[in-house]
Amino acid sequence: MKVLVTGSSGLIGSEAVAHFDRQGHEVVGVDNNMRREFFGAAGDTLWNLERLKNATRRFTHFALDIRDRTGVEELFRSQRFGLIVHCAAQPSHDKAREIPLVDFEVNALGTIHLLEATRQHCPDAVFVFLSTNKVYGDAPNEIPMKELDTRYDYARTEDYDGVTENCRIDRTLHSLFGVSKAAADLVAQEYGRYFGMQVGVFRGGCLTGPLHSAVELHGFLSYLVKVTLNGGSYSVFGYKGKQVRDNIHSHDVVRAIEEFAVNPRPGEVYNLGGGRENSVSMLEAISQIAQLAGRKLDWRYVDEARKGDHICYISNMGKFKSHYPSWKITRNLAAILEEMVASQQAQLRSNSAGR
Ligand SMILES: NC(=O)c1ccc[n+]([C@@H]2O[C@H](COP(=O)([O-])OP(=O)(O)OC[C@H]3O[C@@H](n4cnc5c(N)ncnc54)[C@H](O)[C@@H]3O)[C@@H](O)[C@H]2O)c1
Repeated sequence: MKVLVTGSSGLIGSEAVAHFDRQGHEVVGVDNNMRREFFGAAGDTLWNLERLKNATRRFTHFALDIRDRTGVEELFRSQRFGLIVHCAAQPSHDKAREIPLVDFEVNALGTIHLLEATRQHCPDAVFVFLSTNKVYGDAPNEIPMKELDTRYDYARTEDYDGVTENCRIDRTLHSLFGVSKAAADLVAQEYGRYFGMQVGVFRGGCLTGPLHSAVELHGFLSYLVKVTLNGGSYSVFGYKGKQVRDNIHSHDVVRAIEEFAVNPRPGEVYNLGGGRENSVSMLEAISQIAQLAGRKLDWRYVDEARKGDHICYISNMGKFKSHYPSWKITRNLAAILEEMVASQQAQLRSNSAGR
């Protein structure tokens, strides 16, 4: 099978390229390194592209911009894909307010370019879209919460397993990023429901792993590890540092995509996160990383929450697990953190050896 991965030099895209290449598929990657344009030098993904070129067997890369409709058309005219994994995005909640038009063009317009090219040229292909839990806006904050020593948690037992796909996506504050992704999420569902195409939508919690080109505005856990080890200061915004995120390793994300690709359900939407077991608050993450890294983070508290930020978000994975019972989380939070700390330490050693 020929697999197209957009955003192929990013966290999820690069994991998908390596995974499907290992399975023996021919993989085409599309990434124009726009993460560098969004976030500056620290967001540059070329290191990951070079790594992939060395680590794969049948991978080809195009520095194509998904906003370029003609370019996307040409790519689909010249190659026939059986699976499209769409990960290219402007991925930051906070960044979007500076660049609302670019954010919308990349996230919404870029997505419909790919869906329409799929419909025109390979309508039987499976199309997986990486959406986000920000499509729920701040509606998850309406769930009754209780405050514990180091985190917020859901107050009612019926909410224990987290937010389901039934959470509403309108009449809520999203951030512009949440809106551009919600537009893409809806259009992707429509290609599944209206056209009957094999489209799946995954609403990610915090997707993580050492392959992130982490920056302050995106890649929370890996950025936290980076600043703890490299030095520098870190700001925690609001909710006393007790806001909770659930974290899932990029490998487990790609395994979920693979499960869907083998047995697609047109137009389905799934939450995708590490669930309660992989959930952590800012305060807890800072302390666990300090223990692993053997040094403390220099951080300060800013008593103003980020606009639209979730207080406690845990992905309820019940629907996905019931449709795909052989999928499970293979990396728990401790393993994720250990791997990220080890990878950052290795990078620091190689930087100092190169000096
Ligand atoms: N990382 C998370 O915590 C998280 C959470 C929820 C949802 N998601 C979604 O998952 C997907 C993958 O996220 P990620 O963490 O791998 O992001 P990432 O930023 O690491 O990867 C995205 C890649 O897309 C590329 N790109 C951006 N604009 C492009 C364009 N116009 N044309 C071609 N390539 C372009 C970037 O250069 C980057 O390499 C995104 O859709 C994101 O919104 C991520």
